[in-house]
Amino acid sequence: MVGHFISFEGIDGSGKSTQARSLAAALRDMGLTVTLTREPGGSTGAEEIRRLVLEGESDRWSAETEILLFTAARRDHLEKTIRPALARGEVVITDRFADSTRIFQGVTRGDLTATVDALHSLMIGVEPDLTILIDLDPAEGLARATARAGAEMRFEDMGLAFQSRARAGFLDLAARHARFHVINGARHPDAVAVDVMAAVRSLVAGA
Ligand code: ADP
Ligand code: TYD
Repeated sequence: MVGHFISFEGIDGSGKSTQARSLAAALRDMGLTVTLTREPGGSTGAEEIRRLVLEGESDRWSAETEILLFTAARRDHLEKTIRPALARGEVVITDRFADSTRIFQGVTRGDLTATVDALHSLMIGVEPDLTILIDLDPAEGLARATARAGAEMRFEDMGLAFQSRARAGFLDLAARHARFHVINGARHPDAVAVDVMAAVRSLVAGA
């Protein structure tokens, strides 16, 4: 794959979507071609799976079934959206990727890390060049997510302890992989965006 592959990760309400949008706009202003996408979703088939996993009761799916659904959605997203854009030499910015499955399905409800990793290497097999982890206190994240509440509340409904385990899991993952940049999300969006651009600039320089 040519191009550059950037993911945003973090708990619900941390500001990922806001920052992904503003990074895409900033890179476009620099003359780069950007595909801005998201998970679950980012392709027609994966958007259909999105509705299945994000709406309804918290206990609608087990963590194991979710691993299969999120990975199926990711495979379609990779085939239809991410790989073609990278092959065209674009910058791909995705709001969530495989780290979300590692954390939300792999560690928040018992240890399913081995299952997540096995399915990832079988079906996905790629990692972003750079991952921005927007770190935020889960109470603040839940307050923000609840304020914009809609139908997609299945994971928010799993509660504060769930989001706290997710935050710790993301920080632990970030400490173990050099592609992560951890950015404090508890500031004005413009201040967060400055740090995001500082992390991304050297990757895209000369792109
Ligand atoms: P995520 O994609 O991580 O769930 P969003 O970017 O959708 O987060 O932000 C969740 C909510 O919080 C939105 O209503 C958004 O306008 C608001 N928000 C985003 N970033 C900040 C920030 N740095 N400070 C305060 N509110 C924010
Ligand atoms: P998202 O739309 O990014 O929600 P938010 O903007 O609230 O952060 O993601 C929706 C939910 O899907 C989120 O609660 C995390 C969950 N999720 C997983 O559990 N596993 C995954 O692999 C992905 C991509 C998302």
